[in-house]
Amino acid sequence: MQVLSTIQEMRLACRAVRQSGQSLGLVPTMGALHAGHIALVRAARAQCDVVAASIFVNPTQFGPNEDFAKYPRPFEQDCALLEGEGVALVFAPQPGEMYPAGASTFVEVGGVGDRLDGASRPGHFRGVATIVAKLFHIVGPDKAFFGQKDAAQVAVLRSMVRDLNFDLELVVCPTLREPDGLALSSRNRYLSASDRARALVLSRALDVIAATYRAGEKDVARLLETGRSVMATEPEVRIDYLQIVDADTLLPLTEAKPGALVAIAAYVGGTRLIDNTILR
Ligand code: PAF
Repeated sequence: MQVLSTIQEMRLACRAVRQSGQSLGLVPTMGALHAGHIALVRAARAQCDVVAASIFVNPTQFGPNEDFAKYPRPFEQDCALLEGEGVALVFAPQPGEMYPAGASTFVEVGGVGDRLDGASRPGHFRGVATIVAKLFHIVGPDKAFFGQKDAAQVAVLRSMVRDLNFDLELVVCPTLREPDGLALSSRNRYLSASDRARALVLSRALDVIAATYRAGEKDVARLLETGRSVMATEPEVRIDYLQIVDADTLLPLTEAKPGALVAIAAYVGGTRLIDNTILR
């Protein structure tokens, strides 16, 4: 496995893969890898000849009071995991490599980029879209792999790929969960034992909404009320948003339908967690 830190080295290595006629899959990450990331790598290996992963804690997607500085960076451990999974290329640049002094061009995905996390974390999706567009240009993958856990990010990146004519396929892999329902997240490692127990309320609320929908309730206000009453059982968990939206536009629905996205973000202690489910 090659670990590359400059854009020039990464470009050359990816170009060589493409010129050899092999397909290239990209798994963009911020490191602190867990089984969810490994599932993305495995999907990439199953669908592409060669897999590249990036490890970059992207400063532009963090707000001024967010966890950029304390975001976990177990770099050696991450590289060992990726090597064990057969990743061929790891791109791990420093911030100055991706954003040299004077860099002033950003990718703004209008509309969808301002909803859900885009509304709660102004500038977040501008940072995500910008770094992912840059990675797409540097790597030139045939396919790029993202987790459904970040459903709003998926909607934003789908719009960007469509609007900017990126010649690649976005592959979205299912959310992985702990046996008790907690969605895997790099931020779970911030949780104390008691907060971790409280955090289960997010998936419980989503499950209750999905079950109520399956039982025949279509009215979004009433569905959300069932979710809020579950959330109320953990008064120390503060809801940031709980919405039922169209999965592509992220616009709120009044009547639930198959394929609708139920998305939640909540603060558990000082940690902001997100989770979602699709109504079937
Ligand atoms: O999902 C993430 O880990 C990040 O938002 C991504 C896509 C790697 C961009 O920094």
